[in-house]
Parts: sequence; structure tokens; C-alpha cells
Amino acid sequence: MSNIGSFDERIKNFNWDIAEKELDFVPGNIINIGWYCSDRICRMGKAEKPALIWEGSTGIEKRYTYNDLRLNSNTIGHFLRELGIRPEDRVCLFMDKIPELYIGFLGILKMGGIAQPLFSAFGDESLFVRLDNAQTTAIITQKKHAPKVRKIMDKMPYLKHMIIVDADPGKPLGDREVAFDMEKAEKIDQFDIHPTYAESASVLHYTSGTTGQPKGVKHVHYSLISQYLTSKWVLDLQDSDIYWCTADPGWVTGTSYGIIGAFSNGVTQCVLDAGFSADNWYRFIEKHKITMWYSAPTAIRSLMKAGEDVIKKYDLSTLRHLASVGEPLNSEAVIWSEKVFGKPFLDTYWQTETGSIMITNFPGMKIKPGSMGKPFPGITATVIDAETFEPFGETGKIGLIAIKPGWPSMMRTYWNNESTYKNKFKNGWYLPGDRSSIDNEGYFWFVGRDDDVINTGGHLVSPFEVESALLEHPAVAESAVVAKPDFVNMEVVKAFVTLKPGFTASKDLDLDIMNFVRKKLSPLAMPQEIEFIDSLPKTRSGKIMRRILHAKEWGEAIGDTSTLENDD
Ligand code: WT7
Repeated sequence: MSNIGSFDERIKNFNWDIAEKELDFVPGNIINIGWYCSDRICRMGKAEKPALIWEGSTGIEKRYTYNDLRLNSNTIGHFLRELGIRPEDRVCLFMDKIPELYIGFLGILKMGGIAQPLFSAFGDESLFVRLDNAQTTAIITQKKHAPKVRKIMDKMPYLKHMIIVDADPGKPLGDREVAFDMEKAEKIDQFDIHPTYAESASVLHYTSGTTGQPKGVKHVHYSLISQYLTSKWVLDLQDSDIYWCTADPGWVTGTSYGIIGAFSNGVTQCVLDAGFSADNWYRFIEKHKITMWYSAPTAIRSLMKAGEDVIKKYDLSTLRHLASVGEPLNSEAVIWSEKVFGKPFLDTYWQTETGSIMITNFPGMKIKPGSMGKPFPGITATVIDAETFEPFGETGKIGLIAIKPGWPSMMRTYWNNESTYKNKFKNGWYLPGDRSSIDNEGYFWFVGRDDDVINTGGHLVSPFEVESALLEHPAVAESAVVAKPDFVNMEVVKAFVTLKPGFTASKDLDLDIMNFVRKKLSPLAMPQEIEFIDSLPKTRSGKIMRRILHAKEWGEAIGDTSTLENDD
């Protein structure tokens, strides 16, 4: 029996206080996600239950019970407080998927800090703009990532501490650097958790937009209500589950469902901190007897590519429920998973700003492969006309996805950028920036984004950020960045580049530019292809027309080019 039971019944009788009651939360009282994810589960008699089973790339394994989670998060919270970090200070987590990342997240929340997770593969420029925007007080990292922080330390007077979790004992550390060894630290059993309330800030996640700086999405402790209930009803987390969320907590799936949803539901979750390979993933499922698996379309397509022979080598019979998020889940992938795993991946749609699943397929619901499903109970979603911002009177039309504001895990603002936040609302609707249609049974069919942001393998990349990075390369005169189709990643980053006088296109230059962007931004933002051209298509006013380059890559009609300068 699935947790949601009858979807229709749930819709009819829905109220968010269902989750409040299950969590014994009384509006107006204290709510702290760190406590809900550790102390509360211990109090429910599950102190000795495994909470986190972690496996590193060398095969080394570490296990933490809910009591270990409680003690270690207390210990980190205490350490941060003793350092002088205050409630609401931003504390950045900049680590691979190691236990300190998961437990540190809870520790920050317990002392009242705002957790700011950043993807550990970020280069110094990506890191700097996000720390600078948040005016981050401390960063917790590993020694392998410390050089990237040191490189920008001088530009960040507000950053008071760099905390290194695996520093070599006895090796001197730099100014503002401090070592903290979670395993060796004296455990704090009694910790005064900071009294946070529903609207106290909890997490600051950065997401890319088309123009300007990345946006800091501010979430609050009350988001737990949504994350707990969607984990229970959509991911169907049950006491006996062994759960695997493949996402990195540098991104929202890895925190909303890789930390908060999992631990507040008291399940055992496994983490694999290693690169992707089909063999290794299936081995991991077999070894840990994974029952619930939350992953992403790019990973599923990579598994499809690896073929079915490798599946036969492993016993995957423990899998009972699969779900996916981050990009369009094509019908082929759904049908394939049904064939090879005996159950389909259920598509779930949401974004950093929404904090939790918005439109989704539920256990027990009729699956239409290729559709994102229906709104979660309590979520009013539709598609609206892009000009009038009014819902369509009929089904089947493509418009902007629109959601009625007011669910618990909705972002509260963009950090230091209230005007961009306000712009996300039109005519009383929140607009996630995606296009879709709805069929006559109420199923949503994703069409595409409503902006130039590139979704590569489920990661949003801003063409603007990549173009800016390219312009800093000594050989680059101008650049335009667009998405290019790709079987596995759906989209990859492609750059069109014109060179400064004295430079000529070559394979070496090509690689040099790619590497330059990878180091500055991240491997995700690195163009997979660079095309050197003599001039970029521009409007008469000098604006680069990415639309033309995009259409060329996708084999689409170019459309109206009447304002094109080069056509004159
Ligand atoms: C954007 C959000 C929250 C998940 C991690 C990504 C796209 C997300 C789907 C889906 C088609 C999807 C949208 C959305 N997206 N899920 N099931 N089908 N597209 O979070 O980085 O904030 O990206 O990813 O374009 O707006 P994010």
C-alpha cells in the first residue's frame, strides 16, 4: 500500500495541516529542520536506526545512526557557535558528497545559521560571485577544494572563517583558516538548538538566470512541511525503505530530498560519492538493497546507453519505486525502465524556487509516458497565456506554467534582489519560467523553458555567465552561447566565438578556451563545442541574436530576421 492511498481523496480533503499534525508542529511555535531530521527521529525510538550509509569512491563505507546524526550535528553546531558565527549568518558548504556535508547542513540549521550549499566542482569565479552576493561568513570545505577559496580570499573581507574538515594534523593553516575533524571532535550530547520559527531563513541555494548574477533563493524552516509530505506521498518513503537520492546537495534536489525529506521521514538513506558508471550504480543498488531510487533523466539515459546486459549481472529486485527530476523525462526512458526494472520512473517537476515537488506522477496513478503528471494536492497549477497572463479556457494549448503562491516551501525572496523576485509573479500567479500544455485529463506536458537558460543534464547554466567568462580569455573578441541537442544530456553548452586580431582558430586554442571556462566556472558550464566564426548575428542595435544560432543547432526555422544587422 502506498502512503498517498487515493489521490482523488487526498485532493478533496487536502490541507497542509495534515503535515503539521504529523510533525506535531503547532503554528507559531519553534520549528527547526535540524531537530526534525535528527533529535525527533531519535525520540520516536529510532536512535539506533541507520540514517546515512555512505560509500566513497575507493569503496570505503561509513555508517551513521540517527543518534550519530544528532550528536554530530550538535557537535558541528556547537563548533560554529563557538567560532562566533551567529544566527542568520550564511555558512557555505563546499564539499563533495561526504558525510560532513549532510551532517554539517543539519548542524548549521541547528545553530540558526543559513546553510548555503555550493557545488564542489565550481571554479573560483562561480564560487566568488555566490559568496559575494550572500556576504558569507564562513565556508566549510575539504583540503582539496581549499585552494579555490584561497585564490579569492583577499576579495572577501566578510568571509571570517574557512573550516577544513580533513586538514592534515600539524600542518600550519593560513590566516582565517581553521581545522575541524567531525569524527575526532568531542561529541556534544546536549545542544541548545537555536529557536527558529516558520519564517526563519534556513537555506540559500543559488540558481542561474539568463542575465545578470546567479540568484540566491531564500528558503525558510517552514519548507519542511512541504518537503516532508511530498517525500512521503510522492517518493512514498516508508519506514522499511532504503532510499537513494543520486543528487548532490550542492543543488536543491540533494537538500530538499537528499537531506530534509529523507531524514524527517526517518528512513535509511545511502549516498554514493563516486563518478557515474552503470556497473557501479547497479552494484550499489544490489549491495545496499535499495528500494526507493530518486534520480534524473540524464542518468537514466546514460543507463539506457549502457545497455541491458550489464543489468543482468545484478540483482535489482529490491527496487520498488523509482522517480526522476530535473529535465524532461522522455517517454522512451519511462518505457525502458518499465521493461528493464519492472517499474517506470515517475516524473516529478519542480525547481529551486519551489523547494519541493509541484507537478508529479504519484504511486498508483495512471502513467502517461512523457507527461509530468498532475499538481500535488494543495498546489493549484495551470498554464496561462503569455500575453494576458490569463488561464486558457480550453485544454491542449501551450502556455506558461503558473502556480498559485502559498505552499510552505515556496522561496521567500531572491537574496538581495527583491525586484527580480517580484517579477516572477504576474496576475496573482507565480511563474517558474517554463512552458507546458495540459491535456483533457489534467496531465501536464512539458514543452520547454521560457528563457535562454540551458538545462544540461538537469543543471541550469546561464549563457550570460559562460559568455562573460569567455570574454575574459585573451583570444576571445565576442561570444554567444546556446544549447545544442544531445542524446544523454538533452542539451549541452555550445559557444560561438570570434577571435581577436592575431589569433587563429586551432585545436589547441579550442581546448585552452574550454579549460579556461571549466576552471573559472565549472565542468557543467564548459562548452562541449566551440565554433569559431567571423562574426555573430546581431540586431541593428548590436544585440547578439542567440535565437538564430539556437535555431541552427536544432534544425529549426529561423523565423523573423528583419532586425538582423548582417542581413542589411
Ligand atoms: C528547472 C529547474 C528541482 C529539481 C532540480 C532542478 C526544469 C525540472 C523537470 C521535469 C521538465 C524539468 C525546468 C525547471 N525541470 N524538472 N520533470 N521536466 N523540466 O532544479 O536547477 O532549479 O531547475 O528544471 O525548466 O524550471 P533547478
